Amino acid sequence: MSAIRACLRPTQKLGKFELEQAYPGVSDKGWSGRQPMKTVDVQGAQIPALGFGTAGLRSDVARRMVSYALDIGYRHIDTAQSYGNEAEIGDAISVSSVPRQEIWLTTKVWRDRFRDGDLQRSVEASVRKLRTEPDLLLLHWPNSKTPLHETIGALNDVKRKGLTNHIGVSNFTVALIQQALSLTKEPLVVNQVEYHPYLSQWTVLETLRANDMAMIAYSPLAQGRVFRDMTLQSIGDGYGKNAGQVALRWLFQQDGVTAIPHSSREAHIEANLEIFDFELTGPEMARISARPGPHGRLNDSLRYGPAWDDLGTVGMARRNVTGVVRAVIRRVRRLYR
Ligand SMILES: NC(=O)c1ccc[n+]([C@@H]2O[C@H](COP(=O)([O-])OP(=O)(O)OC[C@H]3O[C@@H](n4cnc5c(N)ncnc54)[C@H](OP(=O)(O)O)[C@@H]3O)[C@@H](O)[C@H]2O)c1
Repeated sequence: MSAIRACLRPTQKLGKFELEQAYPGVSDKGWSGRQPMKTVDVQGAQIPALGFGTAGLRSDVARRMVSYALDIGYRHIDTAQSYGNEAEIGDAISVSSVPRQEIWLTTKVWRDRFRDGDLQRSVEASVRKLRTEPDLLLLHWPNSKTPLHETIGALNDVKRKGLTNHIGVSNFTVALIQQALSLTKEPLVVNQVEYHPYLSQWTVLETLRANDMAMIAYSPLAQGRVFRDMTLQSIGDGYGKNAGQVALRWLFQQDGVTAIPHSSREAHIEANLEIFDFELTGPEMARISARPGPHGRLNDSLRYGPAWDDLGTVGMARRNVTGVVRAVIRRVRRLYR
């Protein structure tokens, strides 16, 4: 299953020699780019263990940040039809000095294009914008309005036509993963879900491992919240690392998990790559794993979010319901003003 195994003894920050022995290609300032990035290997897919998330990056900023990420050693770029930046990412990849075959590129189909025919046409448009076939194509969110067998059939079709190397899903629960697995003829290699120290994904992760699928952890920095976390920072202090680097390292040390932090600043993009020269101990891993509570989920939708498996949705649902109730009250008040 995963190629990433804790192969070092619990230790403090690693010395240069120790680092080079354990992770060839890793310098004491992050990944050197001299060797392929470490990968999570599932069903013939080799997914770089740390990637770059591009949601919210538009036009020239998207081009510049993706170019910068590739220059300093990222080998995994995450985009989606709904991010509106596939063309810019295609530009950055096409002019990069990094050979295309060394880059793992993921894109996602938005949920209003899940009918047979619509999905294929939308993927053809993505390929034109990206100017290359993605390595991985995901269904971005489940859509109960379109029969899953039809969508999975269309997903199989684009894979067979060579429009993508691998296929998978995103924001799928255990029940949905099992349903999708029972319908697909081509391997589903990934479920991309929100995962960070405040949200447990244990049941989903167990299901993925049992089916030789990888988890791609999105919002791995809890959208910046980890940087205000004193527990993570105190662990990081022992290694000269910040709280975000501790959160990313915690994900990196879990079998079958890859992470795709996002940033719009070069200094942050660089810092997020500097997680290879230290190793969290078992007790530190356990301490971070014990942090999730019922309010951890940051990405949800009352309209199309599924019935999640793990803790974390209570806070989100309450926030959403309160938001909807407040909006209705505001409208009614306006009507009678
Ligand atoms: N499949 C899905 O449904 C789905 C949903 C959400 C996200 N995603 C993917 O996952 C990616 C990452 O998730 P995300 O963007 O939600 O959240 P994230 O990566 O957890 O956090 C991004 C936030 O953290 C800040 N940050 C990053 N590095 C930092 C550093 N070293 N120091 C201080 N602040 C730092 C960024 O600010 P700065 O820009 O100022 O650095 C930004 O505000 C997305 O870009 C997207 O590709 C997928």
